[in-house]
Amino acid sequence: MSKLFTPYTLKDVTLRNRIAVAPMCQYRAIEGHVTDWHLAHYTSLARGGAGLVIVEATAVSPEGRITPGCTGLWEDAQIEGLARIAAAIRDAGAVPGIQIGHAGRKASANLPWEGDDHILEGDPRGWQTIAPSAQAFGGALSKVPHEMDLSEIVRVQSNFAAAARRARAAGFEWLELHFAHGYLASSFASAYSNHRTDAYGGDAEGRYRFLVETLAAVREEWPERLPLTARMGLMEFDGQDEDRWDETVGAVEKLKSGGLDLVSASMAFSAPVGRVPWGPAFLMPTAARLRDEAGIPVSSAWLLDAPSDAERAIADDHIDIVMMARAFLANPHYPYHLALTLGATRPAWTLPAPYAHWLTRYRANNGGL
Ligand SMILES: Cc1cc2nc3c(=O)[nH]c(=O)nc-3n(C[C@H](O)[C@H](O)[C@H](O)COP(=O)(O)O)c2cc1C
Repeated sequence: MSKLFTPYTLKDVTLRNRIAVAPMCQYRAIEGHVTDWHLAHYTSLARGGAGLVIVEATAVSPEGRITPGCTGLWEDAQIEGLARIAAAIRDAGAVPGIQIGHAGRKASANLPWEGDDHILEGDPRGWQTIAPSAQAFGGALSKVPHEMDLSEIVRVQSNFAAAARRARAAGFEWLELHFAHGYLASSFASAYSNHRTDAYGGDAEGRYRFLVETLAAVREEWPERLPLTARMGLMEFDGQDEDRWDETVGAVEKLKSGGLDLVSASMAFSAPVGRVPWGPAFLMPTAARLRDEAGIPVSSAWLLDAPSDAERAIADDHIDIVMMARAFLANPHYPYHLALTLGATRPAWTLPAPYAHWLTRYRANNGGL
């Protein structure tokens, strides 16, 4: 019996299985508003059978978008479109989740297939970026951000809280704060990008202060009974991760005592310095280690989609939820493939009845499909 296809409960929310669609930017929003593209995309993924579908990095303020095509939740008018998506995900039997974030010094970029670099100075599609320190990310992201003063820090934290309130109003039941991938929160946490000398810089306590306070502000708006999670950059792969490990675990423990319910284990990407050891399930040992040492539920992605790896992640009790991204782009019904491969009971029933009925019948009749 496959453990990947067992339910999982966190707070008052139960997922039908341990598979989550990881957040994936679609770059199809207009002024932060979702479009028909998003509705079709997320409906299709939820019908594919995952337990949890997390809507892409959604900006808490206009300048927090990664690109001009990114979604936003900085005004009430953006709730309605996302509410239709949350309802469609729920109707398909999955739990609707959303990631909210601020891209910091990586904001104001061109779409990935139009260069993935910063929009040129003077181009009206771009905007002034902000960060803990006035230092560019580097490489193709060469724009120098404005160093945030204390009032801007407070403003962005209240933007996070307001976006959380709107996410709830839209009907989402699972909230993920984007604290990874070199975006704003992650750039506060990293000594590569945070050179501040005030209370928001310096030692680990100072560098993680922005994250701890942001979580606290969000927790005020997000119901206690619903999961509040964060995507965290656990590894830089710069040769110094082991030296930083205790500080990382300490920060997660602090966030946990502030109301964090689960860590989505990911990478830091704070500066273009890492040598990532790409390979099947390469991040899972780190995710499992964090789960053991910080005593907090953990999800993780990154090449964890092979059926045997995904099953092992849950059956051997390494992590709680397996997140997958690109496998779902290739096949929105990927959980059906997993269920067939892993011998789950009634695999076709990962899909809605109008699909499942026929797949079951054909399999029974002729072993096809
Ligand atoms: C098209 C695309 C968009 C992505 N957008 C986001 C995002 O909005 N937020 C995020 O935290 N990660 C994002 N990621 C990273 C994925 O969530 C995931 O961690 C990564 O693709 C590794 O998982 P995989 O090996 O299953 O694809 C994106 C990945 C892809 C392929």
